[in-house]
Amino acid sequence: MSKQHLVILQPSGRRGHVDEGISLREAARQLGVEIESICAENATCGKCKVVIEEGTFERYGITSKREHLSGPSAEEADYFRRRPKMMAANNWEMGQVRLSCQARVLGNVLVQVPEESRGNKQIVRKSATQREIEIKPSIRKYLVEMTPPDLEKPIADWERLSRGLEITMSVVQRGEENLPKAADLTIDYQCLRGLANAIREGNWRVTVTVWQDKEVIRVQPGYVEKSYGAAVDIGSTTIALYLCDLETGEILAAESEMNPQIVYGEDVMSRIQYAISEPDGLKKQHKAVINILNQLLKQAVKTANQSHREEGDSPTRRSPVERGESREEEIATPASQARNDISTEDILEIVFVGNTTMHHLLLNLPPDHLGRSPFVPTVHKAVDVKARELGLQINLSAYVHVLPTIASFIGADTSGVLIAEEPHKQDENWLIIDVGTNAELVLGNRHGLVCTSTPTGPALEGAHIEYGMRAAPGAIERVEIDDATLEPRYKIIGEEEWNSPKGDTAGKAKGICGSAIIDAVSEMFRAGIIDSRGRFRRGLSTTRVRDGENGPEYVVAWAGETSIGRDIPISLKDIRQIQLAKGALYVAARTLLKSAGLERPDKLILAGGFGSYIDKTKAMIIGLIPDLPLENVYAVGNAAGDGARIALLNVEKRREAGEVARMVRRYELPADPEFQDQFMLAMNFPHMTEPFPHIAHLIPHQEVDPIAKKLARKS
Ligand code: FES
Repeated sequence: MSKQHLVILQPSGRRGHVDEGISLREAARQLGVEIESICAENATCGKCKVVIEEGTFERYGITSKREHLSGPSAEEADYFRRRPKMMAANNWEMGQVRLSCQARVLGNVLVQVPEESRGNKQIVRKSATQREIEIKPSIRKYLVEMTPPDLEKPIADWERLSRGLEITMSVVQRGEENLPKAADLTIDYQCLRGLANAIREGNWRVTVTVWQDKEVIRVQPGYVEKSYGAAVDIGSTTIALYLCDLETGEILAAESEMNPQIVYGEDVMSRIQYAISEPDGLKKQHKAVINILNQLLKQAVKTANQSHREEGDSPTRRSPVERGESREEEIATPASQARNDISTEDILEIVFVGNTTMHHLLLNLPPDHLGRSPFVPTVHKAVDVKARELGLQINLSAYVHVLPTIASFIGADTSGVLIAEEPHKQDENWLIIDVGTNAELVLGNRHGLVCTSTPTGPALEGAHIEYGMRAAPGAIERVEIDDATLEPRYKIIGEEEWNSPKGDTAGKAKGICGSAIIDAVSEMFRAGIIDSRGRFRRGLSTTRVRDGENGPEYVVAWAGETSIGRDIPISLKDIRQIQLAKGALYVAARTLLKSAGLERPDKLILAGGFGSYIDKTKAMIIGLIPDLPLENVYAVGNAAGDGARIALLNVEKRREAGEVARMVRRYELPADPEFQDQFMLAMNFPHMTEPFPHIAHLIPHQEVDPIAKKLARKS
């Protein structure tokens, strides 16, 4: 057994013994404290900073020294050496503040985890939108009555049930095409194990649940009306789960949680890398997502039961007697149903969507080849697998259905978006952009669809930005700048009001999230603080523009308004990150449009939790999205999650997802010879050469770029 040391984390007070040699960040993870990371622990982001407390602390029974950690690596020392102002502002000495991803535990240590380094619970912005869905789930229920066996006809239970089922099915499905034959049905082994008892408990009268007209997955004594399923969108950052009534389509509970795999890497490439390079890297990430899904399922059931009790009995939930049915019906109804309570055992199917990496990690498939050329997933087609094989704690015989993937970076989430938005049924050309760390784009109409993806980097989600953070409490989420005074006003997540000059936001801002970074850069450009190349203009009459550690910067919040005790600026370096992201996204959209011979789409749809929070005017001002009439730009929220719900409730939509996924043509961006040139032009705000007539009137300070003039003369 390896040597162990005591690690105490403050302010959480978490403590415990960890193996010698593991990193402080891993130690914190083991002790239940999440520390930020966005660089896959490469000593470059500095988000994992911690402070080492030195001395003997009787209260905690520990003597803590900086020598109880491995010395700083060259990269770590370099990181701190390049930030003298930060060190001075916090009175930090070299060795006292450490990158927790680099420092290895060699002895007992007491560690302060500053607020900005702590992982936060995400405010969930995904929500199901109201859509009309035809209810046609993959499971059907049949009430089967049998005559009990006797010595003359000692037929086995399953064969007896099959015969009874044949009669019921022929009646229930009369007039339907391609009727399944009861004789062709199979029965799940776990279900078979409980068959004898269920039949006798029901006095030879049972409710049989058949999945996909193929397999009996549940036999319940008596008459049981309700069945339930779940639809889940596994995002790289957030997981959203909807518990649904499979008869009515009603959402009984919507739960969400941060994807715990985030501790293994913020983006899909870091998670693929973790799965490849770490022993058990795949297993750990698979387990992490399964554990959180089991928690979410339990929570959803609890929420549904609670809200049902609060609402009181609804007509659809009344007992058989209340509905005027026989007393016998009520007795035959199992206890949980009589109470109208749902249990996780009542969940009979889950439909999943997610990007191709999330898809592989959920299914425990090695993601190795997703990350290297020629970027091939293990499977494109939809996958049906028993939930128990994945460790999901729902009905033992239940299935999981995962929608098809389209390419290595265009996943089941895009399949979900397609069946939710249905561009393949339109005459107009629609461009759908699912904005995130990796943007997925689909363009087309009923005659054909083309898709591509582009890494936009984590900047749009608040990472790789000096004071960037995820959309969590304390994050600035909206920014506006007054043209005349160049003073900003902003709104913080979790606060009702915008900040005011009276300073009533004191101590509340912790960082700035993706939507506000787009707002801020767009407003800085509109107000003339930066030019179309993203450079700061000189000689402005404001103290908010100054020289900082990362070059010139604009201060959005003064130290007195923040909970981190420091100013929150947007620096030139941050602006460059946004330019890289928006340049990539714009070129992807432009290239797709060009490949289809289009100037602009008829309709632009921004999908994804983040997409729905982008201010579309501000996004267009910086050229994040192509120019078109603003009234034709729509934010549809979590369309991928809606797609999962639609596929849960309507089995034909699953077939449609398979068909549409096959009809989508993939367009490989890096193979486009013009990509680099176009990318350089698209780095300008809103673009170096392309006109943006629909927002031009909003940019009074815009100048014509000298290079653009030259290009115009040449052409
Ligand atoms: S520096 Fe990025 S995680 Fe440690």
